[in-house]
Amino acid sequence: MSATKKPLTQHIRTDGEMIGFQEYIQLGGYQAVQKAKQMAPQDVTKLVSDSGLGGRGGAGFSTGFKMSAVPMGDDASKTKYLICNADEMEPGTFKDRLLLECHPHQLIEGMMISAHAIQATVAYIFVRGEYKLSIQRLEHAVQEAYAQGLLGQGLEMYVHASAGRYICGEETALLNALEGKRATPRAKPPFPQTVGLWGKPTLVNNVETLSCLPHIVNHGAEWFKSLSKTADAGTKLYGLSGHVNNPGLFELPMGTTARELIEVHAGGMKDGRKFRALLPGGASTDFWLEDKLDVPMDFSSTAKIRTRMGTGTIIILDDKTCPVGMLLSLERFFKQESCGWCTPCRDGLTWVEKILQAFENGEGREEDIEQLERHARLLGPGSTFCALAPGAASPLGTGMKYFKEEFLKHIDEKRCPYANHLH
Ligand SMILES: Cc1cc2nc3c(=O)[nH]c(=O)nc-3n(C[C@H](O)[C@H](O)[C@H](O)COP(=O)(O)O)c2cc1C
Repeated sequence: MSATKKPLTQHIRTDGEMIGFQEYIQLGGYQAVQKAKQMAPQDVTKLVSDSGLGGRGGAGFSTGFKMSAVPMGDDASKTKYLICNADEMEPGTFKDRLLLECHPHQLIEGMMISAHAIQATVAYIFVRGEYKLSIQRLEHAVQEAYAQGLLGQGLEMYVHASAGRYICGEETALLNALEGKRATPRAKPPFPQTVGLWGKPTLVNNVETLSCLPHIVNHGAEWFKSLSKTADAGTKLYGLSGHVNNPGLFELPMGTTARELIEVHAGGMKDGRKFRALLPGGASTDFWLEDKLDVPMDFSSTAKIRTRMGTGTIIILDDKTCPVGMLLSLERFFKQESCGWCTPCRDGLTWVEKILQAFENGEGREEDIEQLERHARLLGPGSTFCALAPGAASPLGTGMKYFKEEFLKHIDEKRCPYANHLH
């Protein structure tokens, strides 16, 4: 791929340093926002729609369509908000962190473009509280943008550090958190685009999504589409963690397969271990076995086979690690992070954790397998306000399907069969 076809991580230094204002300008920074401001707001929205950009927060929903749902014209509220969701607490997901730490001006410029499109006057970057370096560098970059007169003339921008819960990344819980309320999700509809922060129209987008905008404005919708291998546009920041030789983050054409990611970019399985399964995009996605390694990692190809790419940051599981133990640690996370608002999530996940822990202690029973399967169904879509519970149900449901033998082994041996293995 040529340098011009690397929109997001282009010029990111390998030393992890931040690209400051002067350097960003030298790289052509802030030209896209000037160009966008010469366009009518609706034309910017149309350009983003035409580019096929899908939200990188995990769902892949059309960014242009979301923008177009914000009321415009004389009847629209004078106060509108733009929020960058930089909460990134999904286990195994570390893609936004790189953009925040190394390329904050690219994000600020993307936000300025989006703010122009929806005519927002106030923008917030809602950052995960533990991302101290990101917060420090974002604050510095925002100050630089103010000092240069880029911000403060029709758009105010604030960096807000989250108090630190996974649920704050869910966009309506995020709105409550920003308002200083308990971070529980809101009922939808109304969607934030019409009734959002303090009741005003609000657009919430992910860091990676917003970071694509300067490049779309600079190079056009067709160029952005041409970067992909499949029908979904652009490049994607794919991450790999777990038992591979070269874990890390790779910007590649959308639609790259998991097999290519593992074998070519991540250097293959660690120490020649055998591949067992992977989670394609953080903890809240289905387990995939070897048969899905050649599926293009994008939103629409995965939807066609009734699964999800999620954040595209893969967690690899080898055959020496206990899948029941892995499920336990995933479900423990979800249980701990449940906001407690909906019963299936609050009570269901408590039971799921207890039962999985019993298996790991060698106290699992055959009827517990059915209970776990039942909980996976009860946690599924439609029974809770937000997607945390369905997210927890994805690895649980597929884990119960693919690893049943492993559960039975725990029952037979009355212990975890992997207890003596080094992970
Ligand atoms: C429990 C939970 C946590 C989430 N955490 C994040 C997050 O940290 N960052 C993010 O961009 N989206 C997160 N999302 C998705 C957001 O609700 C929302 O869909 C996203 O910010 C929209 O941005 P996009 O359209 O650019 O993808 C989360 C969703 C749920 C249910």
